[in-house]
Amino acid sequence: DKEEDLRPRPPVVTIMGHVDHGKTSLLDVIRKSHITSGEAGGITQHIGAYHVTTPRGEIVFLDTPGHEAFTAMRARGAQVTDLVILVVAADDGVMDQTREAINHSKAAGVPIVVAVNKIDKEGADPDRVKRELAEHGLVPEEWGGDTIFANVSAKKKIGIDELLELVLLQAEVLELKANPNRRGVGHIVEARLDKGRGAVATVLIQAGTIHKGDAFTCGLHAGKIRAILNDQGKMLKEAGPAMPVEVQGFDGVPDAGDEFVVVADEKVARKISDSRKGKQREKELAKETK
Ligand code: GTP
Ligand code: NA
Ligand code: MG
Repeated sequence: DKEEDLRPRPPVVTIMGHVDHGKTSLLDVIRKSHITSGEAGGITQHIGAYHVTTPRGEIVFLDTPGHEAFTAMRARGAQVTDLVILVVAADDGVMDQTREAINHSKAAGVPIVVAVNKIDKEGADPDRVKRELAEHGLVPEEWGGDTIFANVSAKKKIGIDELLELVLLQAEVLELKANPNRRGVGHIVEARLDKGRGAVATVLIQAGTIHKGDAFTCGLHAGKIRAILNDQGKMLKEAGPAMPVEVQGFDGVPDAGDEFVVVADEKVARKISDSRKGKQREKELAKETK
């Protein structure tokens, strides 16, 4: 894409951290305080990702078990996350999965914003968390490093707006941009078989714009976009960069991390997916005959 075709886009954020440190609680409190009820038109569609609007700007959150999604995506070479919020419980400190999350983020080159959670708890020691993380290379700004820390309580709703503000500040440094005026491309965040609607998937659009009726390929699958729903369950005609949407019209259930690519027409889409399926079968045969 040419520089002049690029437009600013919101950051895509994944929340990671040790078991029970408060990832889900934090996501819930962010979602509840920033999504207008009523906008949903009744039932809120759960699509595994959502976007919030804050006074400073928009943020997209991937609402998936951070570690698995991250690993699955990276195994496929997919990079969907711009920023990681590392949640560390202030009464527990750095644990196994905290270290694992740090390693995942570093390997992917994704900057980390630290949310020291549960500061409402007796025994909370945010300074200890800072010291422990500094030993892992996450040195807070006030100690001369470049890692942003926010003290929060998901339970008592303390520090949430400050955290979002810091996330957007960090995102500004990244100067995230995408060209909305080209064929849509993105990645699968999650997918499932729905009884009534067939294979449906949460797609994070990363460049271009997808439209209802577009033909696409996705991993071993192909299809034609039958419906696009946003995180509020609202039907859309199109969706652009950094938008998480649910797409219907797949001929099978894709995998998390599969690339979603709009192509010229259904014939082309079929041809590509048939050829990929053929290659996949050859690989499996080769394995069996070994
Ligand atoms: P897993 O998905 O199982 O890894 O856990 P999680 O990181 O999503 O943690 P979750 O949000 O489920 O929170 C774990 C427990 O900590 C729950 O009982 C929450 O109510 C509690 N909790 C979360 N945030 C806070 C907080 O800020 N303060 C206090 N006191 N408790 C919290
Ligand atoms: Na939990
Ligand atoms: Mg959870």
